[in-house]
Order: sequence, then structure tokens, then C-alpha cells
Amino acid sequence: MILMEHIIREGHPTLRTRAEEVTFPLSAEDRQLADDMLQYLINSQDPEIAEKYNLRGGIGLAANQVNSLKRMFALHLEDENGELLSFVAVNPKIVSHSVEQTYITSGEGCLSVDRAVPGYVYRYARITVKFMTVDGEEKKMRLSGLPAIAFQHELDHLNGVMFYDRIDEKDPFIQLENSIPFGRD
Ligand code: NI
Repeated sequence: MILMEHIIREGHPTLRTRAEEVTFPLSAEDRQLADDMLQYLINSQDPEIAEKYNLRGGIGLAANQVNSLKRMFALHLEDENGELLSFVAVNPKIVSHSVEQTYITSGEGCLSVDRAVPGYVYRYARITVKFMTVDGEEKKMRLSGLPAIAFQHELDHLNGVMFYDRIDEKDPFIQLENSIPFGRD
């Protein structure tokens, strides 16, 4: 079971290292890691379990964050239609994206960052993605809204990129053209 003490925090070199492609069939160890990452998210969103184990709530978790350099991450969240998206993406890629960008008005957070970092993190508003499931099945998906944002945040982790790398240093709340805000605060 993944606990907060297993999640590495900013400053750890693994968060700045590009993760490596996973080979199929998945090793028992890789599959366990995939299951554990998704389970962490599910547990962290369950008020009783989260309180019992002191888990910070999350919608996404990348392997880098548990100190493993494998190209996989878990997502567990609802889309704007209330549809549950819950999966582990192995060797994920963005195959196409909108020109339009989006950003969470209250900024992004990360389980590996124990502080609020103010500023807008611009992401593609809509993306088409491909990835492998843990069973070696290829998936293609169109994402928008929060799932699109979360997918890009996690994919960044696999490339050693932190969300705040994308905040404009001089003008953290810069308003870019051709962008739509997500959420309100
Ligand atoms: Ni993160």
C-alpha cells in the first residue's frame, strides 16, 4: 500500500529524470506498482481511509513520484459529465491537441509539492491520447477539461517536468489569448 511516506517530494532527483518505456508483458513488479498507484488515488478520495492513513487526496499519480522510473501513471477522477475515469496509462502519448489552451483558475497542485505555488499552468484544452493498459491493450482516448489537464500534468512527471515549470516567472497570472479558464475560485 502506498502511503504519503512513499511519495517523494520536490528536490528528489527522480522527479527530474525522464522515465523509461515499459516493456510488455508487464513484470509482476510493474503490475503491482500500477495497481498500487491506482489504489492510492482511490483510497485518498475515500474520506475514512484517507483520514485513517493520513493520505492527501489526489486524482493522478506518476511512477516517478514513488521513485520508480517507469513510464506509467494512474488517474482516478470524474469528467464533466460525472463519468468516472479510472485507469493506469502505460507508455502514454499525446497524438494530437487543440490550439486552444486551458488552465485551472486556482492553480495546480501535486502530491510531491508540499506548498501552494500560485500561477496559471497552461495546458492544451483538448487532447487525443494513446497509451497501453496494464494488460497490453492499446487505448485511444479524447480528453477535455480536468481529465485533459490531469493527463498532461502526469505525462510531464514522466518527462521530469514539474507543474510550476510552466508558470510564467515574471507574470504568474498572465492571460494568454486563445485560452479558457477551468473552474472558478
Ligand atoms: Ni504531480
